[in-house]
Amino acid sequence: MCNDNEPRHVMPWRIEDIDLSRIDRQRAAANEDLMLLLAASSFIESGSDLYTSNLNVFFNGDPEVSEWLNREWEPEELQHGRALKTYIQYVWPEFDWEAAFQTFIEEYSKTCSFEEFEKTRALEMVARCVVETGTATLYRAIGEYSDEPVLKEITDNIRSDEVRHYKHFFRYFKKYNQIEGHGRLAVLGALMRRVMEIKNEDSEIALRHVYAGRYPDRVRDEAYSRELTARVNRLVRHNLSADMCVKMLLKPLNLPAKIRPGVHYPLAKITQHVFFR
Ligand SMILES: [Fe+2]
Ligand SMILES: [Fe+2]
Repeated sequence: MCNDNEPRHVMPWRIEDIDLSRIDRQRAAANEDLMLLLAASSFIESGSDLYTSNLNVFFNGDPEVSEWLNREWEPEELQHGRALKTYIQYVWPEFDWEAAFQTFIEEYSKTCSFEEFEKTRALEMVARCVVETGTATLYRAIGEYSDEPVLKEITDNIRSDEVRHYKHFFRYFKKYNQIEGHGRLAVLGALMRRVMEIKNEDSEIALRHVYAGRYPDRVRDEAYSRELTARVNRLVRHNLSADMCVKMLLKPLNLPAKIRPGVHYPLAKITQHVFFR
């Protein structure tokens, strides 16, 4: 929904500028678990525009937020989806990304509703910070795990975008909380609600559609799906920087410096288990 008269947002990086021919295709293609994870992530990223319209309505009347969402956030999130899709189609060309994405988006679009939103703008900004924390953590984990330089470059780029998104949402949280004045308990409530949601729905739906596209013969084999999900989650968990994740999660609580180290370790442990069981 960009105004044609305004200069276009210059993307911080472009997937078109990354030379995929540097990829050792055969070697990269051998990692099936990574394929599943990248495909699921590409689906969720490619569905980001479903959120923009809802967010736009929610933040209607705040041009600062709406403009940033439309001009920067959405194109960057959609590029994350496109970049991962491009990588997948190069390394695993036999996977019909489009077909699997179509069935995914049909189901996923029904879950993106206003019921998912927090009651107030400040608390919704806290929820958005959690989402960006989750994605920043995920792409950092993939980058740590992978020894394939092109994927590392792509996930590094995506991670920097997610951290920058987080900073925007955090700034907007502070702006709205000056008006709404929520205490730590309310902020913690929004934080926890969103953390629990991340665990549940999005990745579960995305993975299910990836499996159906990848292994059509085993669509009804639930034990197999569970095994695959466990493998994908293990990949992330073993490479996860709980430290970065917790630092980002705790920020909106604005805890006094002297109690921060005390809650950091237990929270890091909890996060590891809640985000990627
Ligand atoms: Fe993203
Ligand atoms: Fe983001």
